[in-house]
Order: sequence, then C-alpha cells, then structure tokens
Amino acid sequence: MQRRISLIPQPQQLTAADGELDLGTLGAIVADGPAEATELRSLAWLLSDLLNRGTGLRLTVTENGAVEGPVLRLRLEGERPDDFTTAAEAYRLDVAPGGVELAAAHPAGIARGIATLRQLLPADALREAPAADPVVPLVSITDEPRLRWRGVMLDVARHFQPKDFVLKMIDRAWLHRLNVVHLHLNDDQGWRFEVPSRPRLAEVASWRAATKIGHARDEAAGFEPTPHGGFFSVPDLREIASYARERHIMIVPEVNLPGHARAVLAAYPELGAGQEKPVCPTFGVFEEVLEPTQAALDFALEAYTAIGEVFDGPFVHIGGDEVPMTQWESSPVARALMEREGLEDVRGVQAWFTKAFCDHLRGMGKRVIGWDEILDGGAPDEAVVQVWRSEAYVKKAVAAGHEVVTSPEPFVYFDHYEGEGPEEPLRIHGLTTVAKVAGWEPVPPGIDESKILGVQCQLWSEYLPSPKDVEYAAFPRLAVLAEVAWTDPEVRAADSVLDRLGDHLERLHAMGIGYRPLEGPEPWQQGGTGRRERFDHHFVEHPAD
Ligand code: ACM
Repeated sequence: MQRRISLIPQPQQLTAADGELDLGTLGAIVADGPAEATELRSLAWLLSDLLNRGTGLRLTVTENGAVEGPVLRLRLEGERPDDFTTAAEAYRLDVAPGGVELAAAHPAGIARGIATLRQLLPADALREAPAADPVVPLVSITDEPRLRWRGVMLDVARHFQPKDFVLKMIDRAWLHRLNVVHLHLNDDQGWRFEVPSRPRLAEVASWRAATKIGHARDEAAGFEPTPHGGFFSVPDLREIASYARERHIMIVPEVNLPGHARAVLAAYPELGAGQEKPVCPTFGVFEEVLEPTQAALDFALEAYTAIGEVFDGPFVHIGGDEVPMTQWESSPVARALMEREGLEDVRGVQAWFTKAFCDHLRGMGKRVIGWDEILDGGAPDEAVVQVWRSEAYVKKAVAAGHEVVTSPEPFVYFDHYEGEGPEEPLRIHGLTTVAKVAGWEPVPPGIDESKILGVQCQLWSEYLPSPKDVEYAAFPRLAVLAEVAWTDPEVRAADSVLDRLGDHLERLHAMGIGYRPLEGPEPWQQGGTGRRERFDHHFVEHPAD
C-alpha cells in the first residue's frame, strides 16, 4: 500500500500523484550546475552517502554528463540569490516516474530539498545501515521558508555536550529544514572553547569541581562532587564549522559577556571586580561581571576574534542577558568610565561593552546578535535583538530600529516542562507542551513581518546533563517549531502539524533519538524520586518594562 505523504515542516505547495518511484531504478545523481558549483557536488555526494547508509543504494554522482535513463537530478538554475534570504532556501522537487528533479537557485535550496526528499523515504531509511527500500511517492513540491532564521540553541556551557552530539544536532536541524544552530559557548558554569592565547580558559574555566544536585532552588539537596567539564579544541571547532557549512546550516557562536562571567573570572580574576571564586557549581544569575577596563575589553575582543575566525558565518552572538548592575554600581572603575563617557545610568556600562563588541565584530565583517537586555542601555541599530523575556520586547526592539529573532520563553524554551504529570523529569520550571508550540504564531500582531528575521528554540542545559536529556527536551517540540518557522500560517492552519507528528516519531525512532512520546515519558525517561525528580516552582513571565 502506498504510504501517505507526511512531512514536517509542511511544504508550502504539494501535489501528490498515485504511485511510487524506486530510486534503485535511477542511473546516477546528476549535479547539474555551473562548473564552479562545488557546493552542489558536495551536496550530491552527501545525498549519495545518506541514501547508501539507510537503503544500501549506491548512486554515483556525475556532472552534467549524459546518463542513460532516469536520474536523480540536482539542478542549480537562475540567478543566485543572496545568502541568508528565503529565496536562497527555495526549491522545487518533482518525483515522477521518469526520475527525480530537485531544482533551486542557491545550493541552500538544494540542501533543504534534500531534507524533504529524505522525509519522503520510509522512516527506516534514516537508519545508519540499510533497513528500508529506496522508494518515494510521486509528488511535486514547491517550497520556500516563511522566515529567514529558523534556529535551535544548544547550551554546551551548563552541561558540556560532546562534539559528536553537536554534529548530530546539526544533522537533525537539517532534516527539519532549520538553518541555524546557535552554540551557547560559555556561562558561569564553564567555558567551552579553546582560545590559544588564553590557555587558562581550557585549563581552569572549562570544568567545575561539583554540580548542584536537583534543582538550584532545592537548597537542601546539596552538591555532587564529581568534576564536570569539557571544551572544544580549535580543530573541533573547525570540524563543527565545516560540517555545518556542507549542510548549509549557519553556526551562530555565542560568547556571553560581560555577565555570566564566573568561569572567565575563575581563570582570570583580574578581569573582574570581586573576590576570587571557582567555576560556579550551581545555576542562576550571579553578580560577577567583567570590570569595564581595557584589559577586560581586550579579553572579550580576543575571544570574539577567535570564535569569529573559526565560524565564518555572518553572525556572532554576544549574549548580554542578565547582567546585574550591582558590581558596577560600587566600582570606581565603572564610575570613572561613566564620567569619562558621560553615561548617566549604570546600564550605560553594558551599552559601552555592547558598542565595543559591535564595532570590533563589524570590523571583522560580522553582524552582532544579543539577548534583549542589550536594548536596556541601547545598542547599535545593526545589532539583531534576540527577544526572550516576553513577546512585548519584540515591539520594543522593532520600535528601536532592530531586526529581531523571537524566542519568547513561554513558547520556545524547551528546558520547560513538557507535561503536567509528576513523572516528568527535572526541569527549570514552566509548561511548554507540543500543542502550545504548535499553536504559536511567531509574528505578534501589529509587527512588520520583515523585521522578524525568524525564530529559535532554546535547549538550556542546567537540568539537561546528557545528550539523552537534551533529546527528550528537544523532540518532538523542535519538529513542531520547525513547522512554525517554515510554513505559512494558512498552510499550517489547513493541516495541523499535530496530525503528522505520529508519522514523524517513527523517523525520530529510526534515528535513535530519545524523544518524549506524546503520551508522556517512558519509564526509563521519568524523573523518579531521586536526583531527577520533578521540582516545581512557579514560572513568572518577565513583565515588559
Ligand atoms: C536567557 O534565558 N537568560 C537568555
């Protein structure tokens, strides 16, 4: 019996015909584009490898040469659109009895079409060794994303997530036609990448001696005195960068300064204003910040240079969230800066850092993105604001002249509880069900959609200690978010993503992802009554000020 077509995200236009095509009847993958289109060839070989892995099919890649009979043709056609536009990700995919044609004007569109083609195969074709026939339904798809930025953030700082898992998440982003993987690379609890000129980041800031047991607010639970840490070496970063580049996924590296600085200051206490403290073993917001000195600024700029060089995408994230003013309020250095620069409000100290970061990164050909607190003291117009506290900040950021990535905590913080049951494993707070994500309209009423670069979900890892925990938190909510980001509202309304989710779970299962079943956790995923037991404290959305 013919399988029903069930894709996530739903393409903008899809016409199905009766019948199927066995890709085993095709002669080759033809990379049909200008001779210099190395990105196209690279995608063609990637597709060949993926088909081989899951189905055993071996299709060679040829370039524009004559091949007898039907083929799987990847065609670059028309004028190449600018990178990072919805036009760059548009594609057309035709599966007909006479072969497959995937056409786009930019290799990014070919990459998105490959993701759709992979979802047309049986779910078992997503396994790592042959487990399904290479059969796809006859269909004609014309597709283009609604929003330019469709992302997922991995927090490798609170709990280090190993490189192979980062690569897997890049693949999973690709399969869901996301185009951004944001890496949150430092926080109070650890610094996660090598900066050769600052060796104490790897030696000292990359690990902590103990970690809070249970929830940070459950003070009685104490600490587990097992060291936790890890960092990416420069070659690791290069590998992540090229893995993502091949799949047309943009890595957005975040170096979060001047707050969330406990790990930095454990390694280089002279950059702060307070007493020496170790890398933080618990979670929350801490008062330690960089002092506004030239030395601290030099440190930050060195870190931005290092990360901006290795990740060649257009954006670097400067963090900037939750920067307490307490140390600066009593710091003679901050006071002197305020007098020198004519700053009336201590928030201007953060704005001073933000401006210096933006100027430096602009000089590297980069654009800055920061959490919405960068608005509080003011930020250069070209900075993209990632709104997290509440949707009210979308309006504020747009009114202040910024483009926005919208990530409001109640809808896309996937470290929130997924269900109300007592068996859910430990989470920070909140309740963000699959249905809540599915019902979310990412562009608030009255906002000019062209100002919304896109949307992003967050996998903060305070309470996600291992890749399995991250997977449970991410899936299937990430799939639903991908549809929210990609698919136009009318198309979403016509065919609820929730009706396709059951089929999609078979794909997640085939890929070995420890997703959360829709009806609740498997016994081995539950929190139990020990260290992972559910802990509730009331979530209060940040009011807009
Ligand atoms: C954030 O959740 N502090 C960006």
